[in-house]
Amino acid sequence: MHVQFGEDFLWGAATAAYQIEGAASEDGKGISIWDTFAHKAWRTAGGDTGDVACDHYHRYAEDVAIMKELGLKAYRFSIAWPRILPDGKGKVNQKGLDFYKRLTDALLEAGIKPFATLYHWDLPQPLEDAGGWPNRDTAGHFADYARVMYDALGESVDGWFTLNEPICTVGGYRSGWSAPGRNSLPDALAAAHTLLVGHGMAVKAFRASQARGKIGIVLNLDDLEPADDSPANVAAYQREDACTNRWYLDPVFGRGYPEALLNWYGKEMCPVHNCDMETIAQEMDFLGLNYYAGHRIQAMPQGGDLKTASEKLRAEGTELTDMGWGVWPEGLYRILTRLKDEYGNPPVYVTENGMANHDEVGADGTVNDTARIDYLAAHFAAAGRAIAGGVDLRGYFVWSLMDNFEWAWGYSKRFGLVHVDYPTGRRTLKESAKWYSRVIAENGLDI
Ligand code: FCB
Repeated sequence: MHVQFGEDFLWGAATAAYQIEGAASEDGKGISIWDTFAHKAWRTAGGDTGDVACDHYHRYAEDVAIMKELGLKAYRFSIAWPRILPDGKGKVNQKGLDFYKRLTDALLEAGIKPFATLYHWDLPQPLEDAGGWPNRDTAGHFADYARVMYDALGESVDGWFTLNEPICTVGGYRSGWSAPGRNSLPDALAAAHTLLVGHGMAVKAFRASQARGKIGIVLNLDDLEPADDSPANVAAYQREDACTNRWYLDPVFGRGYPEALLNWYGKEMCPVHNCDMETIAQEMDFLGLNYYAGHRIQAMPQGGDLKTASEKLRAEGTELTDMGWGVWPEGLYRILTRLKDEYGNPPVYVTENGMANHDEVGADGTVNDTARIDYLAAHFAAAGRAIAGGVDLRGYFVWSLMDNFEWAWGYSKRFGLVHVDYPTGRRTLKESAKWYSRVIAENGLDI
């Protein structure tokens, strides 16, 4: 079967600052919560840190040349807040701005549209020391930082994303797996609310700026369903859907917090000020969707606080990725269709989708990642089917352009279209990258 995409469909790839840049304390950059966290014992696999990562800070020109070679139409990267404002607020570090100016200029020169994420998890440490995301002031500091970026890059950036996957930042206040590694339910609940208020304030600031692009948020949504139709499992599914998807989705679409969430946390929910829900519901131009997983949900006898027990949905005969995540392209179709049916068919970009694979450069110099080609082909086909069904999907950013620092898993997980040899920094196009560039050139694929 042939799947063809529209002429304007934006094929791209995504990365995030801490995962690729390195140069962790160069040119005036401040420390982020991920610098701190990764340097603590036992927090990341092998004690890996993002100090050097892919050294993209120095090799960005080579990386943009690779993007051009692949024919990417757009590139989603994130801006390191502590590079711009080492203290999180106050004095701007011009050298930090200069880096992103160099990067966006190189992209534009190569004919690639820049899509910038303002917050991909690297909060400046001084703001964490002042209370972090649970502190309401952080929302205002975030909007101030966003303003600096709209002024600096407003001419060059096509698409802005306020936050990447707020649920994961919230997780960093609820468990040890992610920065800042706190473990407090009240902090997590307050962080979730401040993040959303910060998002709304940043969108408002965007509308008041001269920036020419468009703006939205990136949410990671899971395709969930109850394990069976027993009342306990259906209720568990509704809670899980509220905690995983609707907690962020509903308020940004002006629907407030889901009942199931409010009932579940009850009095523990943090205070909501008068105009907060209105601030959060600022009209966006598009939604960014990160899609990785589907889960079957069943009730856990003891309940649980942020999550109910969930079991990976794994269709008969399908594979698990190197992360242990089930391959479930149907879930992408279902989520996109849900956004159309239940959230007014907003313009959507798939801002991340991809897989970790155990990739090695072979003796002949190639990286044969057929599993990734199969994975992407199946997900692209699901996206094509959703578009045919009326979903307003505008583009697709594969995660990731290149292998990088996969947070707590360090360098042990390879998500890239491009292989990175960390000791030397050498880049090698994987077979999936060559295949992807053909998909882009033909604007479609046969599956
Ligand atoms: C997402 C993150 C991204 C990357 C992928 C695998 O949750 O946004 O940085 O780690 O997962």
